[in-house]
Amino acid sequence: MEIVIVDSADAAGTVVADIFEHAVHSGSRTLGLATGSSPLSVYRELARRHREDGLSFAGVQAFLLDEYVGLPEGHPESYAQVIRTELVNHLDLDAARVFSPDCTAPDPFAAAAAYDRAIASNGPVDVQLLGIGGNGHIGFNEPTSSLNSRTRVKTLTEQTRTDNARFFESPDEVPRHVITQGLGTICEANHLVMIATGEHKAAAIAAAVEGPLAAVCPASVLQLHPHATVVIDDAAASQL
Ligand code: GLP
Repeated sequence: MEIVIVDSADAAGTVVADIFEHAVHSGSRTLGLATGSSPLSVYRELARRHREDGLSFAGVQAFLLDEYVGLPEGHPESYAQVIRTELVNHLDLDAARVFSPDCTAPDPFAAAAAYDRAIASNGPVDVQLLGIGGNGHIGFNEPTSSLNSRTRVKTLTEQTRTDNARFFESPDEVPRHVITQGLGTICEANHLVMIATGEHKAAAIAAAVEGPLAAVCPASVLQLHPHATVVIDDAAASQL
């Protein structure tokens, strides 16, 4: 595992944007995208490079990690909508080729399995961006998720619902269920790139990077991956 420690959140975004730019220039055509606040500095930097330097994402397809169950299509906090607003609308990435789990399907269990098959048949993902939850989750694989898990329906922990309540008008609006790529699914990407900044991520980063490989810290699965890069600022590195 490569650990890159920088002195600010913006610097972390620049390092990760460099990885994505290099991948696209080297012919990568399948990217894995993440939501949450951690990737936003990356997305701002990629949008700037597209606007000012002509960095192109033409011909690229992308798969999202996860999605809330129960939000209507187009809801501003659905991850499909968030990724459009934060990234896709600012690039020449074809919106029709940005895929996410279909959480409006009548059978979310079948939708999860279908999404897993779609990634397998159109992948592998060349570079997968990841954030990390305060409890060590990646995607929405909460603690005790099987390290081999596939895309499936999960119930959120109360901590994750509380952490994500800031995006909703009231905590009760945070959905209880999600569809998330499994840890096994995520690990099929060729290169995993995690970004985390701030003191509130320090314990989760220490557990992921130095703790035992364990389902109680889903992000520790990165220790098994042949090509994982963790980009953090000084504050997130403070317990290493
Ligand atoms: C959500 C997302 C994760 C993300 C995590 C951390 O739970 N499903 O993919 O990594 O939040 O979010 P933030 O970066 O806002 O702290």
